[in-house]
Amino acid sequence: MTSDVDLVRNDDELARKAEHAFTEQFGTAPEGVWAAPGRVNVIGEHTDYNDGYVLPVALPHTTRAAVGRRTDGRIALASLQGDGEVVELAIADLAPGRPGGWAGYPAGVVEGLRDRLAGGVSVLVDTDVPVGAGLSSSAALTCSVALALSDLVAPELTRNDLVDLARRSENDFVGAPTGTLDQSASLLCTAGHALFLDTREQRTEQVPLDLATAGLQLLVVDTGTSHTHADGGYGDRRRECEEAAARLGVPALRDVPDVAALAALDDGGDGVLLRRARHIVTENARVLEVVGILRSGEDPRAIGPVLTAGHVSLRDDFQISTVELDACVDAAVAAGAHGARMVGGGFGGSAVLLVDRDRADAVADAVRARFASEGYAAPRTFDVVPAAGARRIA
Ligand code: GLA
Repeated sequence: MTSDVDLVRNDDELARKAEHAFTEQFGTAPEGVWAAPGRVNVIGEHTDYNDGYVLPVALPHTTRAAVGRRTDGRIALASLQGDGEVVELAIADLAPGRPGGWAGYPAGVVEGLRDRLAGGVSVLVDTDVPVGAGLSSSAALTCSVALALSDLVAPELTRNDLVDLARRSENDFVGAPTGTLDQSASLLCTAGHALFLDTREQRTEQVPLDLATAGLQLLVVDTGTSHTHADGGYGDRRRECEEAAARLGVPALRDVPDVAALAALDDGGDGVLLRRARHIVTENARVLEVVGILRSGEDPRAIGPVLTAGHVSLRDDFQISTVELDACVDAAVAAGAHGARMVGGGFGGSAVLLVDRDRADAVADAVRARFASEGYAAPRTFDVVPAAGARRIA
C-alpha cells in the first residue's frame, strides 16, 4: 500500500460539503465554491526568489473555499479543520498580522481587494492538503480565496494577477517571504502536466508528464516533521542569496551563468555564500536538464539522478534538509527509487520519490522500515498524478 491518505477527489461531493457547512455556519448559502490544489515540486527549489526556474505539479489534494458577500462591512472566516471558532472583524480593521494564524492567509487576500469588498465577505474553508508538510497548504488556501474573489468582484484579473495577489498576502500580510512557486503551481498547473515556470518573467510552459505510461510513479513521503516559513531559516537563505548576488554585481543569482563564474564571489572566507549560490546555479541547470529530458520523449527514468543530485545540493550546499529527509532519500534510493529529493522550503516536510510502479510498495516499505529503525515517527505516503490547477467547483 503506497497511499496512507484517503482522499475524496470528486469535486461535486466536495462542493456540496462546503456549501452545506457554509450554510450551517452563516445561515445563508454561499455564492459559489472554489478549489485550489497544493503542489509538489519536481525540481527547482529556492530558485523562485532568485528569478530562476521551477517545475511543480499540482496535487490532487485541494483546499475548498465557499464564499459569499455580506452587507455589514465585516469579514468572517471559518475552517472545518480548526476548533470551530469563527474569526470575525471589520474589513476596515484588517492589517498585517491582524488576524493572525491560519486566518491571516485568506484575510490578506481580502485585504488586497478591500476596495471591492466594502460590504464584507464570509469564507468557509475545507482542506485535505497536508499542513506543514512542504506541500503548499498555504498557497492552496490563498489561491482558492483569490480565485473566488476575482470571480465575484474582480473578473478583469488574470491568473498571473492572482498569483501576485496570493503572494502578497503571504509576504506582506502574514510575513512569510516566499517567492511565487507555490501560488503559480496552484493557479497555473494543468492535469497531466508539470508547469515549467521562468519566475523572472512569469513565463510558463505546460510539460506533459505521463509517468504511468512509462511504468513510473511519483511517491510523496510526508515525514511528519513540520516546517514554517514565517520564521528563521527560509528568510536567512533568501537574504544570503541576495547578498551573494549583490557581491557578484548581478540583479539575481539567476544571472550567474555557471559554477565557474562563482570564482568571483567574495564569500568572506567561511564558504557560506558560495555554497548558497552554488545551489541556486546548479539547481537552475537541473530544472533545464529535467525539462529537456521530458520534452525529448526519452525514458523519464533519466530524470531520477538529477532529482537526487538536487537533494544532495539542498543538503550540503543549501543546508536545509533534516535527518528524516536524508534517511528517506537514502532508503528510497537504496531500495531502487530512480531518484528522490526533499521538496519545498526545507527544515522538515516531505520528500518526492520517482519509482517504478511495481517497486512502489517495496520502496515505501523500505522507507518505513528505516524510519522505524531510526526511531522516527512513521511517515505518510501517497502517490501523485499531476492534477488540475485552481477552479470553480460550484
Ligand atoms: C516555499 C516557498 C516557495 C519556494 C519554496 C522552495 O514553498 O513558499 O516560494 O521558495 O519554499 O523552493
